Amino acid sequence: MELYNILILIFVALWQPATQHIFSNKFYENYQSQLRTQNEIHSAKYKYEIKTINMPVDHFSFSKLDTFKLRYLINNTWQKEDNAPIFFYTGNEGNIETFAQNTGFMWEIAPEFKALLIFAEHRYYGESMPYGNKSYADISHLGYLTSQQALADYVDLIEYLRSEPQYKHSPVIVFGGSYGGMLSAWMRMKYPHIIQGVLNSSNYYSAFMIDKGKEWLSDDWKLCQPLKNANDVKQFKSYLKDIYTNLAVVNYPYKANFLAPLPAYPVNAVCKHLTNESLTGTELLTAVHKAINIFTNYTSETKCLNLNNSIPQLDAIGWPFQSCTEMVMPICSDGINDMFEPNPWNLDEYSKDCIKQYSVKPQSNLVCEQYGCKDLSTATNIVFSNGLVDPWSSGGVLQNLSSSAIAIIIPEGAHHLDLRSSEPNDPYSVILARKFHRYFIKQWIKEYREKEEKHY
Ligand SMILES: *[C@@H]1O[C@H](CO)[C@@H](O)[C@H](O)[C@H]1NC(C)=O
Ligand SMILES: *[C@@H]1O[C@H](CO)[C@@H](O)[C@H](O)[C@H]1NC(C)=O
Ligand SMILES: *[C@@H]1O[C@H](CO)[C@@H](O)[C@H](O)[C@H]1NC(C)=O
Ligand SMILES: *[C@@H]1O[C@H](CO)[C@@H](O)[C@H](O)[C@H]1NC(C)=O
Ligand SMILES: *[C@@H]1O[C@H](CO)[C@@H](O)[C@H](O)[C@H]1NC(C)=O
Ligand SMILES: *[C@@H]1O[C@H](CO)[C@@H](O)[C@H](O)[C@H]1NC(C)=O
Ligand SMILES: *[C@@H]1O[C@H](CO)[C@@H](O)[C@H](O)[C@H]1NC(C)=O
Repeated sequence: MELYNILILIFVALWQPATQHIFSNKFYENYQSQLRTQNEIHSAKYKYEIKTINMPVDHFSFSKLDTFKLRYLINNTWQKEDNAPIFFYTGNEGNIETFAQNTGFMWEIAPEFKALLIFAEHRYYGESMPYGNKSYADISHLGYLTSQQALADYVDLIEYLRSEPQYKHSPVIVFGGSYGGMLSAWMRMKYPHIIQGVLNSSNYYSAFMIDKGKEWLSDDWKLCQPLKNANDVKQFKSYLKDIYTNLAVVNYPYKANFLAPLPAYPVNAVCKHLTNESLTGTELLTAVHKAINIFTNYTSETKCLNLNNSIPQLDAIGWPFQSCTEMVMPICSDGINDMFEPNPWNLDEYSKDCIKQYSVKPQSNLVCEQYGCKDLSTATNIVFSNGLVDPWSSGGVLQNLSSSAIAIIIPEGAHHLDLRSSEPNDPYSVILARKFHRYFIKQWIKEYREKEEKHY
């Protein structure tokens, strides 16, 4: 079914707030300093070497000859023989370390498969900047941020790895979650001769009495900048909406630190503060503040709430641009069947904002033209996994497409829970899903090896 739907949902809501002033230098510097902090946070769990490879900025022309350094992480500790399987993570919209550290599943199964681990960074994120600090300067530098170019980067990297004699006949299994999961599925669909299989995983807004006083709210909620006008109030509401939706996305059954440091089942922790139905006015707002503090201030170290950025920990600076070009994912609410204020989808208005912000007009058909949407029955060797707790699953592939393009449903799963490392609180459904994943990976490798043998 509709890959298009999938596209529709993943991630856009998460990072819209970062849209502001993407073309400014200050923005770029802040980004770099955030990255450094992140790398410190992440230096802990899994170890790898960091390498780079030269990439053309434009894979699809013979006129543009600029190149840049694309970063990738490599760990060859478990690879014992020639032609070891290559487990390849197709990086998504962020610093690659974040994804390497949050994809424990690959690390856990690497010894069993004696696999080489590769995590490739997506261009224009992390340190893989085609034009250094000018990458985001204007559309002539930023225009090469597309999924097609990113896939071509990954293909070049795989070809480069396989140019070494010891990997010449290595099967390649790609992994990805969220937008990275879309990329990995597209890798297999577009380049089936390069890769052998894919594991792609997930894939109470009470009427606020704002009139009680912006000043009171700014003060009580410790906002970094006081609410002054209607626009600020709009931003405030959108900030809250982001937090509510993100909480659902990362509702993991154990303490985790993906979008923010959070307790187990953070949605429950938040709702504990919102059980008294008779609260109104400032009492209600104070309770909501306590509730969202679970997301914004679990470490007790947040000095003030910055409404410009509901996920300070994430560094998806290019995502607003991508969602203004190819990754157009309509999100809306009607205020009746959901807990949000009515917010109908309006492509014209959306396009106007994109033109104003980046001088680009969204091409909402592009993804279906490039990768297919309605009919994916020719896809093979892909596992689409979806956690039903994850709001993004409403756009996921939830039905088997063919005998080897399989949908796995994890009823208790949050956003790509199955790709994370095993934890004692894992629900049985995710344990089972990982067993399925292993089974399919074994199958793909076996089929590939049998085919290879026939050639000699
Ligand atoms: C690969 O990962 C293992 C386990 O985390 C670690 O012991 C080893 O040092 C890593 N190898 C490299 C080359 O970083
Ligand atoms: C951008 O990078 C160049 C070279 O790396 C450096 O000389 C320049 O000062 C930087 N510009 C800004 C605004 O950071
Ligand atoms: C698989 O892709 C779907 C949509 O393409 C996405 O919702 C899901 O997160 C991806 N899953 C993985 C494991 O990458
Ligand atoms: C709920 O809120 C009302 C109004 O502030 C208060 O009187 C009541 O004690 C609260 N109930 C509980 C169970 O905390
Ligand atoms: C975060 O928690 C600490 C400790 O409770 C508190 O001092 C601080 O004001 C809180 N920050 C915000 C933004 O609420
Ligand atoms: C939020 O963004 C606005 C507009 O770009 C800027 O003026 C303001 O200083 C930012 N606020 C914070 C707390 O960074
Ligand atoms: C897809 O096929 C697999 C294997 O045949 C099966 O286990 C799974 O339940 C099917 N998925 C769906 C969503 O029907």
